[in-house]
Amino acid sequence: MSHSGNPDKATHEIGRIYDAITDKSILIDFFLQTLLQLVPSSRGYLFLAGPDKQLWLESATFTPKEASAVLLGAAQTAFDDGKPSAEKGLLFLPLIAGNASVGLACLERAAAFTSRETETGFNLASEFSGALKNILLFEENLKMERLAAIGQTTAMLVHEIKNILQLAKFSDEMIRMGVNEKNPKFIATGLGKLEKTLKDMDGFIWEVAGLSKDYQLEPEDVDVPALLQELGEDLAERAGALSVKLDCAAEKDFPVVRGDGRSLYRALLNLVKNAFEAFKDKPDAWIRVRARVTGPETYEITVEDNGCGMPEEVRARLFEAFFSTKGKRGTGLGLMVVSRTVKMHGGVVTVESRPGIGTKFTLVLPRFFSR
Ligand SMILES: Nc1ncnc2c1ncn2[C@@H]1O[C@H](COP(=O)(O)OP(=O)(O)OP(=O)(O)O)[C@@H](O)[C@H]1O
Ligand SMILES: [Mg+2]
Repeated sequence: MSHSGNPDKATHEIGRIYDAITDKSILIDFFLQTLLQLVPSSRGYLFLAGPDKQLWLESATFTPKEASAVLLGAAQTAFDDGKPSAEKGLLFLPLIAGNASVGLACLERAAAFTSRETETGFNLASEFSGALKNILLFEENLKMERLAAIGQTTAMLVHEIKNILQLAKFSDEMIRMGVNEKNPKFIATGLGKLEKTLKDMDGFIWEVAGLSKDYQLEPEDVDVPALLQELGEDLAERAGALSVKLDCAAEKDFPVVRGDGRSLYRALLNLVKNAFEAFKDKPDAWIRVRARVTGPETYEITVEDNGCGMPEEVRARLFEAFFSTKGKRGTGLGLMVVSRTVKMHGGVVTVESRPGIGTKFTLVLPRFFSR
């Protein structure tokens, strides 16, 4: 391809090819290639932005695909400005489709970029943005379809309820047998199973209810240390089986706070479950859940693990519905429920994660919460 004669005409032709591509990663790679051809550079980066307007590096023309924190910062600034800009061997091209900014392309080379090159690059970026937006819309529609599929999920829910019911029947039989034969061991086992049944049921209802649009919290006095202790006890067996050292504790003299204890418990359960799933036969695996007061009106609960951590592109999308890297094993709703719960409490969730080192979720919550 030689388009050096008339870049504008070339841009338009290439734009038609963009429109014909239906695969996101192919489109992105083709865009970067064509961009580098029209505006010769040593490196090309492509950043995308989520609903929170935070950029992540989606692709690059070199390996390993990495952007330094400084570059990411500069890219974010250029993205927020929404205009193409060139400075010291860097060219930033915001990707704007209609009135939505979907990301930013960046070129890097030793020599400065001319204004003509900036213009050519921006025109090409605009063609690309339109095509990309269509693919993203298509993905969004897929998500909506999945949401609709929740209707079908009812069958799955019924299945789950049946499982719990089985456990309840079993408990019932054990207790009856114990009473009939005056055998306290049977009674104790039955009652133990019954307790587990009720807890499963409670958790299950919470999880389903938490997804519904008009779910409301029920504020009460919450004994956070007791909540963490319960969490540790409920998961002790699982931690043992996975050889993970699970340690749940609140700081000394932690005060009573207001909140919805059950939903906070489920949120923490989801976080710890994720942490369990972040270890791949790692020796010395640990998970720490901590609670501490951070101010006259706030407290925080942290869930930290030394598991696999996650790359930036995962971190940026964590709280999206149906975002999961676990294939069939994950529905990608766990963290969405966590963030909803925290938001409904008027709090915020933050996450720090480093691949290969571990992950830390921090829930900052108000101590005095009223609906
Ligand atoms: N502690 C963690 N360490 C590493 N990656 C994590 C951690 N917590 C979450 N993730 C990543 O975030 C993704 C989304 O988590 P989320 O809990 O929402 O869904 P899921 O665990 O995949 O499925 P499920 O709906 O069953 O919880 C996970 O697929 C995983 O890639
Ligand atoms: Mg999960």
